[in-house]
Amino acid sequence: MIYITRRERFNAAHRLFREDYSDEKNMEVFGKCSNPNWHGHNYELFVTVKGKIDPDTGFLVNLKKLSKVIKEEVIEKLDHKNINVEVDFMKGKYVSTENLAIGIWQQLEKAVNELDAMLHCVKVCESENNYVEYFGK
Ligand code: NI
Repeated sequence: MIYITRRERFNAAHRLFREDYSDEKNMEVFGKCSNPNWHGHNYELFVTVKGKIDPDTGFLVNLKKLSKVIKEEVIEKLDHKNINVEVDFMKGKYVSTENLAIGIWQQLEKAVNELDAMLHCVKVCESENNYVEYFGK
């Protein structure tokens, strides 16, 4: 089994909050990410896929095709968007980095399989000091 990782970047806005909490309580629980007037992050996404090397090409996967899949299924839906209100696959979820990683996995899994590879890890960095990794379960 061999692994390859593609990095992509996107900028997006979000807010972490519960409607049943006051602004003060949201600030206490979610910190700055609960700012009622939204805020943005420069996200980094690392998509790792695994599989076998194709003897005809020496590649695990065509990176151009993988990049296209990530762009179409994920980046174009998130980049310069407000994740809470504009991103269909995040509807009704708290927009934490954890839930974002799971949502991105669900967006990518089928399309990656169609490239004869398997999704191994979706890593989402919300800031340079915090990141989440999701391995599918
Ligand atoms: Ni935030």
